[in-house]
Amino acid sequence: MAGIALDGVAKVYDGGVRAVDGVDLTVEDGEFVVLVGPSGCGKSTLLRMIAGLEHITEGSLRIGDRDVTNAAPRDRDIAMVFQNYALYPQMKVRDNLAFGLKLRKTPKAEREQRVNDVAQILGLEDLLDRKPGQLSGGQRQRVAMGRAMVREPAVYLMDEPLSNLDAKLRVSMRAELARLHERLRTTTIYVTHDQIEAMTLGERVVVLRDGLIQQVAPPKELYDRPANLFVAAFIGSPQMNLLEGTVDGDHVVSAGLRLPVRSGRIPSGTQRVILGIRPSDVTIAVAGDARPTLTGTVAVFEDLGAEAHAIMPVDSPRITAEAALAAAEAEADHDGTLLAGDDRAQFTARLDAHSGVTQGETLSLAIDPDRIHLFDPASGAALV
Ligand SMILES: Nc1ncnc2c1ncn2[C@@H]1O[C@H](COP(=O)(O)OP(=O)(O)O)[C@@H](O)[C@H]1O
Ligand SMILES: [Mg+2]
Repeated sequence: MAGIALDGVAKVYDGGVRAVDGVDLTVEDGEFVVLVGPSGCGKSTLLRMIAGLEHITEGSLRIGDRDVTNAAPRDRDIAMVFQNYALYPQMKVRDNLAFGLKLRKTPKAEREQRVNDVAQILGLEDLLDRKPGQLSGGQRQRVAMGRAMVREPAVYLMDEPLSNLDAKLRVSMRAELARLHERLRTTTIYVTHDQIEAMTLGERVVVLRDGLIQQVAPPKELYDRPANLFVAAFIGSPQMNLLEGTVDGDHVVSAGLRLPVRSGRIPSGTQRVILGIRPSDVTIAVAGDARPTLTGTVAVFEDLGAEAHAIMPVDSPRITAEAALAAAEAEADHDGTLLAGDDRAQFTARLDAHSGVTQGETLSLAIDPDRIHLFDPASGAALV
């Protein structure tokens, strides 16, 4: 077992791409840390540098009490699990599991013992004499995991290990991984672009963007107190609503809303802010509601069964520059053309599916001023 410390770690590829830029990060012994961010932000590069598969251009890396910045992969006491786990197709599961130990000349008796132990932990006992071609996707993934486990390394490095599985299997493997970590407590760094995996697996989550760390925090804190617009837009689905706000004394005004703000939260002299409201932080206003309310006409009502999303244009311009970029990157698969031609902001409310709201109706949403997020429009930094 060992902790990991990265100090100013950077990667510049041939041709000048700066894929990872000055990363400082400490992972505690036994901790499960998730690296999350959009495609191309440098997650794999960072993990591969820790594994020793990519040269570290700048900075230093420690695993346990050793500086391994320039150590060969086999001298780092790590095991890596990839998205594309290549099992040896001609070998039985048993031999696939034992292969790494054989290479290391582990005695036969110990090898068999460890293979049996791991097979038991992962529920592979009945599959030991099958070949990979006779296994389901989930079983193959479990063998790949087992192959990393038999070596009992100090650190597991996992790069999107569940991405090739179908959605249902991914959910059950995710739960298995969490249980496994509870049991083994081996230091783990897990890379994913999937925020649900990040939020459910990580004891702490590192959000990366363009090779730079945006925030390191436990999942709950990431969701409740995003450090900047990018994290705010990346974590949470549906995405946080972002509106332009103007400061009026100790209130923020936006789209007909007038929200009181605790004194000191907004630096004096500030005139404009970006207001963030999570879709789940609104409720349907009741008659004579004393809370600040936001009113609009429901353009789209999506009933998902357990919950529903009401989307309505509100009187605030679509957010610009930094925010738009962050939002677009965070939800590349979101259908941004849904309400094209309307340059007002689209506000999404997450409601009870049985709320009786219909498309075309006028909807008043009550906002809890204690739950709003505020950001500096220039830097994107959260105002707290
Ligand atoms: N071998 C390479 N040579 C040059 N550029 C690379 C190489 N591998 C990755 N990159 C670039 O580095 C950046 C980060 O890539 P990567 O670490 O794979 O991101 P992620 O895993 O977050 O999707 C991207 O811009 C990618 O194009
Ligand atoms: Mg990758």
